[in-house]
Amino acid sequence: MKKKILSLVLVAACALTICACGSGSAASTSESSDAAFTTVNSGVLTMATNAYFPPYEYYEGSEIVGIDAEIAKAVADKLGLTLKIEDMEFDSIITAVSTGKVDMGLAGMTVTEERKQNVNFSDTYATGVQVVIVPEGSDIKTVDDLQGKKIGVQLATTGDIYCCDDFGTENVEEYNKGNDAVMALVSGKVDAVVIDNEPAKSFVAANEGLTILDSEYVTEEYAAALNKENTALLEAVNGALAELKADGTLDSIINKYIAAE
Ligand code: ARG
Repeated sequence: MKKKILSLVLVAACALTICACGSGSAASTSESSDAAFTTVNSGVLTMATNAYFPPYEYYEGSEIVGIDAEIAKAVADKLGLTLKIEDMEFDSIITAVSTGKVDMGLAGMTVTEERKQNVNFSDTYATGVQVVIVPEGSDIKTVDDLQGKKIGVQLATTGDIYCCDDFGTENVEEYNKGNDAVMALVSGKVDAVVIDNEPAKSFVAANEGLTILDSEYVTEEYAAALNKENTALLEAVNGALAELKADGTLDSIINKYIAAE
């Protein structure tokens, strides 16, 4: 229900934007911004991600698929660009964007004040929740029970940052991939894993004997990260995202990968 209300608000907001364009503000149509932006490789939208984060990005054979991959493809199409996806450690994405190696980071990435010092964020396109995965029957029943336990996280993610702040770095084990943290949980090296809810569901479905706590840790917003200097591209991406929200493409991409609750 909450999700429904949110999408209604988004649609209403987009409708307003469209009205604003119609009534003569020439600069905000996607055509006019198309001409103004530049990309690292001309004609190409180069996106950095970390493709071990289903359903946002993951490998199907040698191809990277998922919500972010499809959104990026739809944005690239709107802007008349060819999408190229570069897979890297999550830890490297912000640097790749801020040093101008790629145009955009799209990786189920949470908007944070700290990251905003190095990159610009687009409008948000999804909500994520940091949740806790434990073995079935664990004595960890709520987030507070993580006190003094060994917690597995993906390096440099918000889960990592919050757990270090709340439970002490000495209790946090950082892994390069979310799934590595989950494997450590399966083999008993850590007592819990803190990670975003949708990847959590998919990791729990793939491994027997794990469960997600009902008690949620932190709610966040996902957005694309762009180079601070390239505000024209930021505007073009926001324009494309607004169109994709208004015409229902964004919802249909998300619904294709996430079963309605
Ligand atoms: N939402 C979390 C963050 O921004 C985790 C994102 C991890 N994404 C990935 N593709 N591995 O820190």
